[in-house]
Amino acid sequence: MIEIKKAKESDAEILALLGRVTYVESHGNFIEDKTDLLKYLTKSFSVVKTREDIKNNNNLFLILYVDELPVGYVKLVLKATHENVESKNSCRLERIYILADFLQMKLGKHFLDFTEQKAKKLQFDTMWLSVYVKNNRAIRFYEKNEFKNVGELSFLVNGKGYDNIVFSKKI
Ligand SMILES: CC(C)(COP(=O)(O)OP(=O)(O)OC[C@H]1O[C@@H](n2cnc3c(N)ncnc32)[C@H](O)[C@@H]1OP(=O)(O)O)[C@@H](O)C(=O)NCCC(=O)NCCS
Repeated sequence: MIEIKKAKESDAEILALLGRVTYVESHGNFIEDKTDLLKYLTKSFSVVKTREDIKNNNNLFLILYVDELPVGYVKLVLKATHENVESKNSCRLERIYILADFLQMKLGKHFLDFTEQKAKKLQFDTMWLSVYVKNNRAIRFYEKNEFKNVGELSFLVNGKGYDNIVFSKKI
């Protein structure tokens, strides 16, 4: 059974572990300097930081479950604008990550549709995100789901910049 639930403060450990593992699986090979990677993981996916992130009312975390097992998550930053995104009533899909072992289930579209519906209910009209230029699977996924390339940004991993495409979609 597939379920999607809003994360609570008590889900901080699950989210931190999901965040760390899915980041290594999907982006670990792109980060040449493994010290940069380790520092980024330790800082960004600590339980304390994740708990603070969940408590922040401008964030919405969703957890995807398969037969009660947490296999993926979304971090949506509410009220987030970008200079290349025309609407000021926009939110940012900062993360959508599914464990590698579950990618063959192709749950991404269902998870994205659910997230878009949530954002619409919260009265946002546009969703934007950034994706690493070499993350071909995710780029293909966003294009298929009607996101449009609106520019670039540099994503920092321990101070080093990685070229990202900015995608935006009216929801
Ligand atoms: C991004 C993500 C949520 C998309 O969900 P998904 O269920 O994999 O999405 P889909 O399978 O519907 O779509 C992926 C598409 O890319 C294709 N694809 C798969 N591997 C690919 C690769 N290595 N290169 C290019 N395209 C690839 C798939 O065939 C599919 O296209 P198709 O339906 O035309 O065949 C999921 O892949 C994921 O969690 N990836 C790891 C984390 C990540 O990179 N998150 C995004 C960070 S910005």
